[in-house]
Amino acid sequence: MQTNIYLLGAPGAGKGTQAQLLVERLQIPQLSTGDMLRAARKEGSELGQRVAAIMDSGQLVPDEVVIELVRLRLARPDHQKGVILDGFPRTVKQAETLDQMFQAGGRTPLTVIAIDVPYDEIRRRLQGRRWCSKCNRTFHVTDNPPPAEHAQDCGVDANSLEIRTDDRPEAVEKRLQAYTQQTAPLIDYYKSRGVFHTVQGMGPIPEIFAAVSACITQ
Ligand code: AP5
Ligand code: MG
Repeated sequence: MQTNIYLLGAPGAGKGTQAQLLVERLQIPQLSTGDMLRAARKEGSELGQRVAAIMDSGQLVPDEVVIELVRLRLARPDHQKGVILDGFPRTVKQAETLDQMFQAGGRTPLTVIAIDVPYDEIRRRLQGRRWCSKCNRTFHVTDNPPPAEHAQDCGVDANSLEIRTDDRPEAVEKRLQAYTQQTAPLIDYYKSRGVFHTVQGMGPIPEIFAAVSACITQ
């Protein structure tokens, strides 16, 4: 039986944090279009160069670009047991195309989990977010510091973790705007199709994970 989960939420709501915990529990891969685009930038590929300025400004990259990335990724053999979608779809056009891909591929319909966090808390979280480009894990200076073994495993200590280029306050405001205008309409889109759950995203990470897990039947 396939398990397909979509984590919906504003920037900084905790999608990536919860997705990593779900990967460990369910042993199915995370599909984060943001991570894939950042990897393309790090490689310096043509795609990476094309999307860099758009991402840094806090806008969404064109639908066709991310749709193609997702199409290729979903076709991989290791994605046939299921997938945890993080940050895709982000527009109604992306959601409609994903529906078509799921139908054509005979995939089990998505369980949609929206993580709800007030924008002021999001601003606070993104200001303190740190990122390890070696293991791709996300931390927070006070709320979610790296465990002691992280420095040994990756050779990166807490003070050398990176700040995402789109976590500057101006870019964060643009990302919140893009979320409100282009992504929040997906709440009604998925509500009208059933299988929609909302989780309050305020509180300790393990408690949010318990609430997220409770939405999943497999
Ligand atoms: P993407 O990488 O998807 O970024 P995002 O949606 O803006 O979300 P974030 O990754 O910032 O936040 P998150 O919800 O994962 O939170 P996290 O777990 O890190 O996209 C980046 C860009 O790529 C987009 O702006 C766009 O340009 C492009 N893009 C990507 N996908 C696209 C698409 N489909 N279409 C078009 N363009 C696309 O947590 C945040 C912080 O809070 C961390 O520090 C964490 O440690 C901390 N934290 C987490 N949970 C808690 C908690 N419960 N309490 C306290 N702190 C917490
Ligand atoms: Mg993320």
